[in-house]
Amino acid sequence: MTFEEYLRRIPKVELHCHMMGSIRPETVAELARKNGVALPSADVASLYRYNSIDGFLAAAILTASTVRDPADLSRIAYESLADGARLGNLRHREMSFNPTLPPFAGMSYAAAVDGIVDGLRAAEVDFGVSCRLIAAIHRGDTPAVACAMVEQVLAHPRDEVIGIGLDGAEAPDPPEKFADAYRLAARGGLRRTAHACEDAPARNVATCLDLLGCERIDHGYLVLGDEALVERCREQGVCFTVCPTASAVCYFDADDFTAHPIRAMVDRGLTVTLNSDDPPMFHTDIGEEYVRMAQAAGWGLETVRELSLNGVEAAWLPADERRRMR
Ligand code: ADE
Ligand code: ZN
Repeated sequence: MTFEEYLRRIPKVELHCHMMGSIRPETVAELARKNGVALPSADVASLYRYNSIDGFLAAAILTASTVRDPADLSRIAYESLADGARLGNLRHREMSFNPTLPPFAGMSYAAAVDGIVDGLRAAEVDFGVSCRLIAAIHRGDTPAVACAMVEQVLAHPRDEVIGIGLDGAEAPDPPEKFADAYRLAARGGLRRTAHACEDAPARNVATCLDLLGCERIDHGYLVLGDEALVERCREQGVCFTVCPTASAVCYFDADDFTAHPIRAMVDRGLTVTLNSDDPPMFHTDIGEEYVRMAQAAGWGLETVRELSLNGVEAAWLPADERRRMR
């Protein structure tokens, strides 16, 4: 087996993947036809070209507009797990969705989650991949809307929905805006993560840890600008769920991963897991993320194994389930 094959085949857990960014382009085209949605081009993959988070988020709104009902959600969830299993030997994913954004905003929360869970269960039977869900706050929402979203999650408890997240463009909406929503989530027993320091100063990571009570940080690259915070995160073993391609395309150098901050994060002893973020929308998959990053950083077997095990340890699963995955 070549090293590249090994990288694709090593069992993987991914903790940072957005459901609405994981729709196959063919499925977007089919759903658009079925649901009577006009797209700017029949070649959906050609719409997946951008070099900024805003460009990406605009495209994501377009693809989400093709999804109309719980059966569509079930299909998307199933296919995205099938792709992870087939292309990268994905075994477990914690996948986020935004209950306040389309298409969820136009559906009942309970019916939408039922649809997603149908897809997750079918994927587990067919591919042996498990999945839990993270209800993510959209940063553009008001604090009151975010609190209402968390209350809705707590009012419809499901074993599959295990935590909350925070995503969207980071610079205009700092994490402290959502302190109340995170407090509610903590009180209701939900796990907590947030996108931070993809594009904002290191103090956002400290705010996520101290004020929001986050157990993981999604991305976190710019933490490297604060040596004391790096030291603290290393000592506490804070897990950073990093996404090589998505962040390279939106913020760093998409043509040269050798200078990607993920490399320095690993070198500095931070706990890192590799993730695909929005795989088809960034022309990647979880296997490819391991290949691109390991080859650019010059990681060997030991480092790759460690990163893969970091995902197991940081998963929000009971200890016995994590032990079985090791
Ligand atoms: N939504 C989907 N992917 C995202 C990312 N990488 N950053 C912020 N919001 C997102
Ligand atoms: Zn993300």
